[in-house]
Amino acid sequence: MSDTVITCTGLTRRFVMPRRGGVGSDVLALDDVSLQVPRGQLVALAGPSGSGKSTLLALIGALDWPTAGTITVNDFDVAAMSRRARRAFRRRWAISMMPQPADNLLLASTGRENVLLAAKQRRVRGNLEEKADEVLARMQLTSFAHQPCAVMSGGEQQRIALASCLLGAAAVILADEPTGALDRTGAATVIDALAAATAGGVTVVVATHDPNVVAAADTVIRLDHGRRVE
Ligand SMILES: Nc1ncnc2c1ncn2[C@@H]1O[C@H](COP(=O)(O)OP(=O)(O)OP(=O)(O)O)[C@@H](O)[C@H]1O
Ligand SMILES: [Mg+2]
Repeated sequence: MSDTVITCTGLTRRFVMPRRGGVGSDVLALDDVSLQVPRGQLVALAGPSGSGKSTLLALIGALDWPTAGTITVNDFDVAAMSRRARRAFRRRWAISMMPQPADNLLLASTGRENVLLAAKQRRVRGNLEEKADEVLARMQLTSFAHQPCAVMSGGEQQRIALASCLLGAAAVILADEPTGALDRTGAATVIDALAAATAGGVTVVVATHDPNVVAAADTVIRLDHGRRVE
């Protein structure tokens, strides 16, 4: 495996809007974006609202298909994979945390059950219960661990989703505004946890408007109107 974990070349995503009354306009959400992310980096995707950050994360995480261009993650050709291969790929490599609600959680299950389930899907070895308790404590979630996610706040749900990524360390963590719903202490906890994960070799890409996340990043990729400007 090479030391470059994520490579995007000429990535373009055009959304074709439904035509009402014969009038329609397509949206060029990403326009010829190329980037490379080395292993163990914390990369911030910055740029104004609508600049294409979430679109780019969805493409890297195999949740969407590009109009043009290529994406490789850990040497997998993401755009060319079948739906089934994509599901396996997402479970094994790229865990996306979506904005509120953290829609990859089972809301009827407890925070701890969600963390354990994610670890089993990624086939993490060892004493999972012990590891789950450790990671929940690290995210300051011990007191919520046995509550169903349905009764947690949006920010608490996002931290549960991050704890799921951190247990047994997914190779790649993709996070969409992971501090967007958090107060200053919660945001600092998340930023510290992401930085610590990169120190262990995890590659992290975060879409963010938070200057503290940008400041903590190894690399900042700035988008504007779908184009890379930095
Ligand atoms: N499913 C979709 N259908 C049509 N247009 C879309 C779709 N998803 C995104 N877009 C458009 O693509 C552009 C980029 O959206 P995107 O969500 O990637 O922006 P963003 O940088 O994440 O913004 P924010 O900071 O507000 O989250 C916007 O103009 C948006 O309206
Ligand atoms: Mg977004």
